[in-house]
Amino acid sequence: MTLPAANTLASTLDVRDAVKSYGEVKALQGVSMSIAPGQFMALLGPNGAGKSTLFQLLSGLFVPDGGAIRVCGEDFLGKPTVGLAKIGVVFQQPTLDLDLSVTGNMRFHAALHGLGRAGRERIAPLLAQVGLAGSEDKVCRTLSGGNRRKVELARALLHKPALLLMDEATVGLDPQSRTALMALVKGLCRDQGLSVLWATHLVNEAETADRVYVLHRGRKLTEGTPAEVTAASGCSTLEEAFLKMTVPPPGSTGGGKPEEKPV
Ligand SMILES: Nc1ncnc2c1ncn2[C@@H]1O[C@H](COP(=O)(O)OP(=O)(O)O)[C@@H](O)[C@H]1O
Ligand SMILES: [Mg+2]
Repeated sequence: MTLPAANTLASTLDVRDAVKSYGEVKALQGVSMSIAPGQFMALLGPNGAGKSTLFQLLSGLFVPDGGAIRVCGEDFLGKPTVGLAKIGVVFQQPTLDLDLSVTGNMRFHAALHGLGRAGRERIAPLLAQVGLAGSEDKVCRTLSGGNRRKVELARALLHKPALLLMDEATVGLDPQSRTALMALVKGLCRDQGLSVLWATHLVNEAETADRVYVLHRGRKLTEGTPAEVTAASGCSTLEEAFLKMTVPPPGSTGGGKPEEKPV
């Protein structure tokens, strides 16, 4: 399909009509999304909405059945290695080697990206930035869940991505660690112009995002600022709006095509 010509360079990420099925399961049914530099976008959807599938397309693990993806204005599907150099990912499932030290995990990632000495020299400052100064030599197995996620965050930033993908990164963390991780990432958007796609099924994590993109059964239900999404649904809170959009009314089978509600 034709890639959009206008407005792409203003976007760190531009997805158009992405489609992906696993056999009979239509995980994404024509998803379009743009993220501007420095924007924190919450991808809010219940389990099974298609969030991780979108992340798998954006991290090059799967190729979409249809659609187009641009990263920093470049055709991602045509030149995935160029795009991947601009993307940092924290996957839903933890991926640290728990028997390696914090620095060992970081060095392995630096080598994978071919970062050389300059990359290795970024390890200590990045660990300090995420609050892990003094933990460089600790074996990851000995860290708390929150600190393990911070190592994954620092690792995802090592090659200086323009776009950070965080897939349900706070699952299993206590409320303090959850809040700290979000604050850290929002600071990176504000101070360094990092663009973030933050997948979550937790409405309170979406409440403070710049924009919220509600995904349900592989389709966009609505998108806008948290206030816009709330107002457009006629509700007084984002939580109510999300439930109204995604929970089938009593007596319904829960099937059918979700209603489009552009903001
Ligand atoms: N590897 C896979 N094989 C088959 N079905 C899958 C696979 N991964 C995901 N799915 C299905 O695709 C849909 C979307 O899943 P997923 O992208 O993991 O959603 P989310 O991350 O929002 O929970 C679900 O119906 C899920 O069961
Ligand atoms: Mg998921």
